[in-house]
Amino acid sequence: MMRIQVITLFPEMFKGVLNSSMLFKASDKGIVDYQLINLRDFGKGLRKRVDDTPYGGGDGMLLMVDPLVRAIEHAKSLDPTASVILPTPRGKMFKQDDANQLAAANKGLIILCPRYEGYDERVTNWVDLEYCIGQYVLTGGELPAMVIIDSVVRLLPGVLGGANSAQDESFQGSDAVEFPQYTRPEEYRGLGIPKVLLSGHHAEIAAWRKNQKK
Ligand code: ADE
Repeated sequence: MMRIQVITLFPEMFKGVLNSSMLFKASDKGIVDYQLINLRDFGKGLRKRVDDTPYGGGDGMLLMVDPLVRAIEHAKSLDPTASVILPTPRGKMFKQDDANQLAAANKGLIILCPRYEGYDERVTNWVDLEYCIGQYVLTGGELPAMVIIDSVVRLLPGVLGGANSAQDESFQGSDAVEFPQYTRPEEYRGLGIPKVLLSGHHAEIAAWRKNQKK
């Protein structure tokens, strides 16, 4: 069982994603266990403050290092060997290979979701992996965390249905994109389907599919 702990100020953002489809089935089958940790619980004082202004000036607020570190320590107390992941536009580009490695390592994940204009850089001393999920800027780490979770959990043994799904090159190649697929009807509003798919010729179909990969 892979334990995935997410540290966030917005746990409700995850409910729809983790409670649907394959991600839900994975936890229902006991393959994965999701824990949402509210960063607010580790805030300072009566107001449970988690942010402060940047040294050197500038707009916006930064997440303070102490609530982040205490939340990580809390998560680590449940799963001492877990890898701590920080989504950030300054991280390494997250690729299929990274998902493969995280799934194969079969270690727990602790994913920290930054908000506001950023975080105190010193938190990276408690972080193992920093990932950027694409060259655009999001309002927080929650969507990247969900992308990482989805890409890893689908690779865990028993999550995907088809016997071949896990090994199929088209689902696993480091930057392979799936070939186009079609289902009934054979003709839709004048649009047909590639005839080779009706041929019953497995080798020709495989060759056509290989050819179609982008
Ligand atoms: N936080 C904001 N934008 C991000 C991105 N593109 N990848 C990872 N974390 C982010």
